[in-house]
Amino acid sequence: MRRRAVQLCFIIVAAQVVCVALGLWIHGRLTVSLSQDSQAPSGSPLAAGGIVLFWTTALLAPITYILLTRFGDRVASSCAKLRDSGAKRSQDLVRTRDAVIFGLAKLADSRDPETGAHLERITYYASLLTSTLRRNPSYHGVITPEFSRLIEISTALHDIGKVGIPDSILLKPGRLTEAERATMETHTTIGGKCLQKIEQCLGSSNFLQMAREIAFYHHERWDGSGYPAGLSGEQIPLSARIVAVADVYDALSSPRVYKPPFPHEKCLAIVREEAGKQFDPDMVEAFLRVESSFRSIAEQYRPQPAEQDVEQTVFVG
Ligand SMILES: [Fe+2]
Ligand SMILES: [Fe+2]
Repeated sequence: MRRRAVQLCFIIVAAQVVCVALGLWIHGRLTVSLSQDSQAPSGSPLAAGGIVLFWTTALLAPITYILLTRFGDRVASSCAKLRDSGAKRSQDLVRTRDAVIFGLAKLADSRDPETGAHLERITYYASLLTSTLRRNPSYHGVITPEFSRLIEISTALHDIGKVGIPDSILLKPGRLTEAERATMETHTTIGGKCLQKIEQCLGSSNFLQMAREIAFYHHERWDGSGYPAGLSGEQIPLSARIVAVADVYDALSSPRVYKPPFPHEKCLAIVREEAGKQFDPDMVEAFLRVESSFRSIAEQYRPQPAEQDVEQTVFVG
């Protein structure tokens, strides 16, 4: 860009020299022909200078205009190219980041008995609830397109802390004891602290902040009887309140060693019943609006028989 500007200055100066020479030449020709015609003196040096200036300006102005316009066009097109390549690069980066996050979450999830497409289902449920809530005037300005995008990717990390739970508990084929249950519940703080560490190393971002909130608080209950912090009502981050409904619906509608998958109507009744107890009533209201889509997602991503066998032999905490 700087080289082009220097080139342009050089061309304008050269054009100016040429124009001055041309102006002088035209002036000389004109004054000679006028003096031959009228046998009069060629005029004062001041008038001659004026004529030279007029010719110089008349020649130089359009040349400068054309050069500057072309330069401006080139600058604009290079800026647009730079902008396009910058936008494409950041899009590629976001896509890569999302793929890496989902891959890592899937890897962590492969240890978890909640096999099958649990991450896909819960991500769809959370996105569906978010877009439904967005139509509720109380959430205008709270649920923004950015919030919707972030929840779509952060939800996959909700149980990332389960990588820190011993196999003897995570994969135990039967109900957990009180002590084992307490250990299992630490998956929220393990995941939350891990994401907090990443934030400290890399600097905070909206994505990391939401992922941390979801990991920490997706087992909190609206009435304050959840874990790990016993938060209640709107103390619980909105993202975690959304994921709580999505996660529980998925647990209810999927097979476990201690229960078959509940029919959709039963899941519906349980979630409705928990409004104001386990769940934010607004989340339940949004769920009830789109419950048929929940059913479709559950059916579409139902665990395959082979995965179901695995799930039937283990207990999910
Ligand atoms: Fe969890
Ligand atoms: Fe989960």
